[in-house]
Amino acid sequence: MPPRGDHNVPRRRFRSATPGQRYHEMDEPSEFGFPKDFIWGAATSAYQIEGAWNEDGRGPSVWDAFCRQPGRVWQGQTGDVAADHYHRWSEDVALMAQLGLGAYRFSISWPRVLPQGWGAVNKAGLDFYDRLVDALLARGIQPFVTLFHYDLPQALQDCGGWPRRDTAYRFAEYAAIVARRLGDRVTWWIPHNEPAVVAALGYYTGEHAPGVRSPVAALRAIHHLLLSHGLAAQAIRAEAHVRPRVGIALNLTPVHAATPTDGGAAVRYDLLHNRLFLDPLLRGRYPSGRLPRAGAKGALGASPSGLLGWLVPALARAQAGDLAVIGEPLDFLGVNYYTRAIVRRSWRLPLVWAKEEDAPAEAQRSQMWEIYPQGMYELLTRLWRDYRPTSIIITENGVPVPDVLEPDGHVHDWGRIRYLRDHLAQVRRAMDAGVPVNGYFVWSLLDNFEWSYGYQMRFGLVYVDYGTQRRVVKDSGWWYRGVVRGG
Ligand code: FCB
Repeated sequence: MPPRGDHNVPRRRFRSATPGQRYHEMDEPSEFGFPKDFIWGAATSAYQIEGAWNEDGRGPSVWDAFCRQPGRVWQGQTGDVAADHYHRWSEDVALMAQLGLGAYRFSISWPRVLPQGWGAVNKAGLDFYDRLVDALLARGIQPFVTLFHYDLPQALQDCGGWPRRDTAYRFAEYAAIVARRLGDRVTWWIPHNEPAVVAALGYYTGEHAPGVRSPVAALRAIHHLLLSHGLAAQAIRAEAHVRPRVGIALNLTPVHAATPTDGGAAVRYDLLHNRLFLDPLLRGRYPSGRLPRAGAKGALGASPSGLLGWLVPALARAQAGDLAVIGEPLDFLGVNYYTRAIVRRSWRLPLVWAKEEDAPAEAQRSQMWEIYPQGMYELLTRLWRDYRPTSIIITENGVPVPDVLEPDGHVHDWGRIRYLRDHLAQVRRAMDAGVPVNGYFVWSLLDNFEWSYGYQMRFGLVYVDYGTQRRVVKDSGWWYRGVVRGG
């Protein structure tokens, strides 16, 4: 099908559900046919929505510092106020109930709970999440708790951050503290969100906080992030009262070769972005083996990328038993899917020898990435074929749209409805092919602070007017409500 711009979404396919609400007739929930017990939710993260950066004893995080460095974030924006969720959480839970969500994935701000990263607990910080969990449960919404979504306490970064092994132990202590407090009510736990992004953008390219640019630091960080995941999973299982279900949210990407001669580059890119995380977590070992050498047509050789599975634990001085901890069984694999990668071989990049290529001219694009729904199917079936996870939950999927609050008081984000519909169709297709997918979370519940892009990207089902902090459910929010109801 030829790509279509947002303006081409046929208007006649929308009709009012209740006054002022619209949804897509073609997308009657029954058409998807998801199982009755499928988990439907929306996701957020602490730094992106909470604001209240210096209130009630919260300590500084690396993002507070990073946003204050000139040139790091679009127009120098910060998460100081964000969507003011710290003060408006109750209203936000009511919104979730209005949308009929069965689950809400949020993250806990580590520096709100432990202002220094370790040591003294900030009671007010833990109390905030305690109240939130109670409010969610009172509305029948399952909390999915992420423990780390990029906002490392600055004090821990000052001691070396993720490239330092100690940080993994501090993380396990923090996980135990939270599990002790919330583990009598919370079932679903996600210690880490996208460790690949933390390592690559935080410590290699420097596009994210703490803005370090060092390949060695990034590779060390990978091992410690993985190790800390396993340690935290053990801590949660030791502390929680209700049987916890522990997973991890990985950003995973189907990889396509730009041309038939770029197959080797695709294999190398896949190793760095996907397998370096999947293999230790699901197979208990780093990927090994000889990989295609850059420049040679599919020829095997000892390219540096082939050594990554050796280099990561070597640089981090991994200890005996680390991999057993990292391979601690996962109750579910969380998948954050946004787009695919198209790669071409290149001599320029060290270690990987593969670079990302632009999507083909005819591709559909969002403000950030190519829109490639089929990648959801490709990814899910590949994960099932190669790793056989017990259960998969889509922990993030969504799209930025240049949303506008129209004079009629609504946000007609049909591009987002189409994106979600097309991706859900691919999730369903993968389930028909036998992949055990048990839940789906839209990124995001609310418009929020999109890291180095600041507030220019709107991902929410709910529009946030940052001037007044007024929330307006977008057309996609009402549409999603229909999906959730239909199951
Ligand atoms: C993911 C992040 C999330 C958000 C989306 C758009 O990589 O986990 O915080 O930024 O991308």
